[in-house]
Amino acid sequence: MPPSAPLIELRGLVKSFGKQAVLRGVDLDVLRGETVVILGASGGGKSVILKHCIGLLQPDAGEVRIDGYVIASPTVTDYAMIRRRMGMLFQGAALFDSMSAGENIKFAVREHDRHLSEAQLDNMMREKLALVNLRPDVATKMPSELSGGMKKRLGLARALALGPQVLLYDEPTTGLDPVTASVINKLILEMQQKLGMTGIVVTHDLDSAFQIANRIAFLYEGRIIFFGSPEEIRTVQDPRVREFVGG
Ligand SMILES: Nc1ncnc2c1ncn2[C@@H]1O[C@H](COP(=O)(O)OP(=O)(O)OP(=O)(O)O)[C@@H](O)[C@H]1O
Ligand SMILES: [Mg+2]
Repeated sequence: MPPSAPLIELRGLVKSFGKQAVLRGVDLDVLRGETVVILGASGGGKSVILKHCIGLLQPDAGEVRIDGYVIASPTVTDYAMIRRRMGMLFQGAALFDSMSAGENIKFAVREHDRHLSEAQLDNMMREKLALVNLRPDVATKMPSELSGGMKKRLGLARALALGPQVLLYDEPTTGLDPVTASVINKLILEMQQKLGMTGIVVTHDLDSAFQIANRIAFLYEGRIIFFGSPEEIRTVQDPRVREFVGG
């Protein structure tokens, strides 16, 4: 792969649920090290796109390639490879409520690396907590004891557990106050700048999009109808995009 080749390629992704056509041919390229934000109306299929990227959904047609490998198509799956390389912060964080914060982080790694000792797992867990600026004593707390912003950070720490190259963020700032949201935005930028992470972020939050995106994609009626820089989206003439971004 030449270095300029996209790390993630979505090609002609089509997905229906029953009679409802959600994705009608989604094309998207994400370059190594960049953060792409996907904007679009609620219910438009943004979470469905992310779920295809980690192999939780298979397309009816089209494919997802990571580093040139087809990881999702109507016929192919390679979950082990995807799980290592892609971490996902789910919409609503999706923590295991019956496990402590620390266990939430260790869980996935225990499944993958059965030879790791408990001490090694604890070290890894503490390191991931530190990466998302959570104090070590958070490890023993239950998710119900954490604030919304802490839950998002814990979800991110868990997504980082297997040392992914790519982070997928589904509505990382939704439901947070502006100050906490900006803490999360800073963290997303740090992931990119300090860890060289490639990211796809789905959000409704335009401020957040403009702060973190290298490029912004706009999903409309099952297709990406705009893909360009934050500067470009501000000046785009297409009324379907303008209505969303305002101005
Ligand atoms: N597993 C599923 N089975 C059936 N329908 C689904 C499934 N997943 C998603 N859908 C439908 O696909 C459509 C798109 O859902 P999706 O969650 O991707 O929207 P979204 O753009 O993420 O919306 P929001 O911004 O509200 O999170 C919705 O109508 C949803 O009901
Ligand atoms: Mg969603």
